[in-house]
Amino acid sequence: MRHLLSTKDVSRDEAIALLDIAEDMAGVADREVKKLPTLRGKTVVNLFFEDSTRTRVSFEVAAKRLSADVINFSAKGSSVSKGESLKDTAQTLAAMGADAVVIRHSASGAPRVLADSGWIDAGIVNAGDGTHEHPTQALLDAFTIRRRLHGGASRGKGLDGVTVTIVGDILHSRVARSNVWLLTTLGATVSLVAPATLLPVSVAGWPVTQSYDLDAAVDAGPDVVMMLRIQAERMNAAFFPNAREYSRQWGLDDERAARLPAASIVMHPGPMNRGLEISAGAADSPQSTVLEQVANGVSIRMAVLFHLLSGSDA
Ligand code: CP
Repeated sequence: MRHLLSTKDVSRDEAIALLDIAEDMAGVADREVKKLPTLRGKTVVNLFFEDSTRTRVSFEVAAKRLSADVINFSAKGSSVSKGESLKDTAQTLAAMGADAVVIRHSASGAPRVLADSGWIDAGIVNAGDGTHEHPTQALLDAFTIRRRLHGGASRGKGLDGVTVTIVGDILHSRVARSNVWLLTTLGATVSLVAPATLLPVSVAGWPVTQSYDLDAAVDAGPDVVMMLRIQAERMNAAFFPNAREYSRQWGLDDERAARLPAASIVMHPGPMNRGLEISAGAADSPQSTVLEQVANGVSIRMAVLFHLLSGSDA
């Protein structure tokens, strides 16, 4: 694997190999010295044209734990704000000797353009592009589900037979898209629940079932409920009557969360709109994996950087 642009490009064997490498990387976090010499001499550039907390920081931590040099570049405060193009930015980073570029961009397809352009000879990692994909988020979600379900015996396993319900703003969600491709590749059964206005037309061709009724989905007792953030910043129209009505019909409130089987887990990629798509009680419950997802993000991003830059999954 030279780049990580989409979970559509990741085979079941590759996904399981990455999850297994992440298991090894998770052990590093338990050591007194949380560092491996593996990527000494390599340079990782975090190129963020859109805001981020979890993804940007965890890629930085991941690269540093592998002893790579890290350059953090955000569009705000750089020459991008003076109008510099993606091409000139990429060529500048190439001149600085970047071995990997982790890119977040508001334009769907920007990481693919960078990978195909020849402007820079580096591994490209998609850290979220528009409404298209967020592959490392899906990998860390799969890792979290696998660990919760199989515990210490998860190595080599996929997610066969696991039922996952993804709820909310599917239309604008790159997290939903990457998860649909990856979780189904790993053998999970995925269903989507959303208002009709927040389901893309293309969903008819996805390997999922869809419905509008969260209560029925909760009562079906899925293994995993994944709540999505309402992405108000990408909405240029009224997709639902108001926040109160959205929360009433499609929010995971305390009462719905209490009806889930005790073994079900509640996921959210963050950042959360507490009180809108998820209640504080559900977000902070023992079934919630929100903070585990953040911690697992470091292990997954270490695995991805290691895999791309060492040229090995040994
Ligand atoms: N889940 C996620 O991508 O969070 P950030 O936007 O904070 O990186």
